[in-house]
Amino acid sequence: MASSHLFLRRTIITRRDFLAGAAVVKSLAASESGHHQMAHMPPVATAPKLLNVEKLTPFVDPLPLPRIAQRTGMMASPTNRKKHVPFYRVPIQEFVSQVHRDVPATRFWGYGNSIPGPTIETRSGEEILVEWQNKLPSKHFLPVDHHLMGAEKDKPEVRTVVHLHGAKVPPASDGYPEDWYVPGQSKVYHYPNQQDAALLWYHDHAMGINRLNICAGMLGLYTIRDSFEDSLNLPKGEFEIPLVLTDRMIRADGQLYYPVSQLADAPWLPEYFGDVVLINGKLLPYLEVQPRKYRFRLLNGSNGRFYFLTLANGQSLHHIGSDQGLLARSVEAQRLTIAPGERMDLIVDFADHAGEEILLNDNAVRIMQFRVAKNKVADASSLPGQIRAVLRMPESSAIRTRTLTLEEVDYLTGEPDVHLLDGKRWHEPISENPVLDTTEIWELMNLTDDAHPIHLHLVRFQILDRRPLNTGAYLYQKKLLYTGEAVPPEPHEMGWKDTIRATPGACTRIIVNFSGYPGRYVWHCHILEHEDNEMMRPYEVLAPANA
Ligand code: C2O
Ligand code: CU
Ligand code: CU
Repeated sequence: MASSHLFLRRTIITRRDFLAGAAVVKSLAASESGHHQMAHMPPVATAPKLLNVEKLTPFVDPLPLPRIAQRTGMMASPTNRKKHVPFYRVPIQEFVSQVHRDVPATRFWGYGNSIPGPTIETRSGEEILVEWQNKLPSKHFLPVDHHLMGAEKDKPEVRTVVHLHGAKVPPASDGYPEDWYVPGQSKVYHYPNQQDAALLWYHDHAMGINRLNICAGMLGLYTIRDSFEDSLNLPKGEFEIPLVLTDRMIRADGQLYYPVSQLADAPWLPEYFGDVVLINGKLLPYLEVQPRKYRFRLLNGSNGRFYFLTLANGQSLHHIGSDQGLLARSVEAQRLTIAPGERMDLIVDFADHAGEEILLNDNAVRIMQFRVAKNKVADASSLPGQIRAVLRMPESSAIRTRTLTLEEVDYLTGEPDVHLLDGKRWHEPISENPVLDTTEIWELMNLTDDAHPIHLHLVRFQILDRRPLNTGAYLYQKKLLYTGEAVPPEPHEMGWKDTIRATPGACTRIIVNFSGYPGRYVWHCHILEHEDNEMMRPYEVLAPANA
């Protein structure tokens, strides 16, 4: 890449400015999690006329619920040809859908014909096969940046590969970013489901265009259930509702807009924040509920937005599970912070709110409405206090600690505004190579001003703690100076996770047992713009014999 035009897309704030004590432009919406929505953007090309949300009548569309995927038939298991297992076929295609009654239909690319796509319902221990069919057009409708790794001019513009986020799957079915395929092709993936009940999600993972494909609509839910979950008597059926949050920029004509830099051939921008929030693909929907308990399965499927959710009447929500399943005990909260890629399993009891209309807000912005029916109903479901044993992994079980930085590289190095994992780019040799069935501690040293949600494929892990550090001393004097005590995870983070907020200016420690399968996987930031521009690294689980 020539550095001349790269220079133009420098960030406004550079490390040199920072050191020189120059004015630091503060982000527009620095949140308490430290995530700066809209921090340091390079020059952005003028946007077209966008939808005026203020002018739309809110709460005229019912909240859509994704349909449950129906199996196509049975097929021989790849591990035992004599055994036949459920087989699903999911087309990845263009469709239109209305985000609001008064907005012209929007073009999406997704699974089936909805965002989220059809929900795949499975049971723990029961394997399935899914054929993911690429039926997309051959030209992308969002701006591909050919300077990004894996999206060079010699690569087909439209490519896809599906990753099942949170699943323990063999490498060949994990959706490795370079395993993409073009329109007209299909892949059959094998999901063993050898793991606890949890809400997983499938989404695109094609190298260098993942942010565009997911923004276009390529995401869906996948549930794993088990007999333990069944025994809890949680609200189920019509009382269990998925809520998938995706923010988008939508033009006045109803079409998706993905902003670009001023450089026609290098359109990438470091973050995407939509001005509208879609829930299950709708803008400002409502949901009619009974005055009783509901179970909400929440996913932040946004490219980069963190949400700070409250119910406007001040009532509590109860966490019963996190990314990888049920917590040890339920945790009451009035406010939720959810990062891209994270899931929350929640119980909300509307019993004392018959007849009310309750807003779900993100900060002060309303995003949907619950309409509670007037008449009392019987509710035999439970909100468990103690849920299950989640053994905390002792630090002494780790055979190795890796210290890995999350860094932002600026023009001093002649590079664009990229974020790197441990200072390395995608194409550099593998450096994280844990041995199968061993446990490691990863210290994620976030030296940037942003929170980065870090996700590892294949595994579930626990967070040990977060500890603030002096990033300047770390970066420029190679000195590790902690500036405070280690802070334990929040109570709702005490269960099994697969995506964790690495907060700015802190070391976030996770403990991971690398069980499952040997082979090549990835770990990355789940802010998709970062992931697409080098904030993703391959890692390899080594079979013990090769270690
Ligand atoms: Cu949610 Cu690598 O992905
Ligand atoms: Cu994943
Ligand atoms: Cu990031």
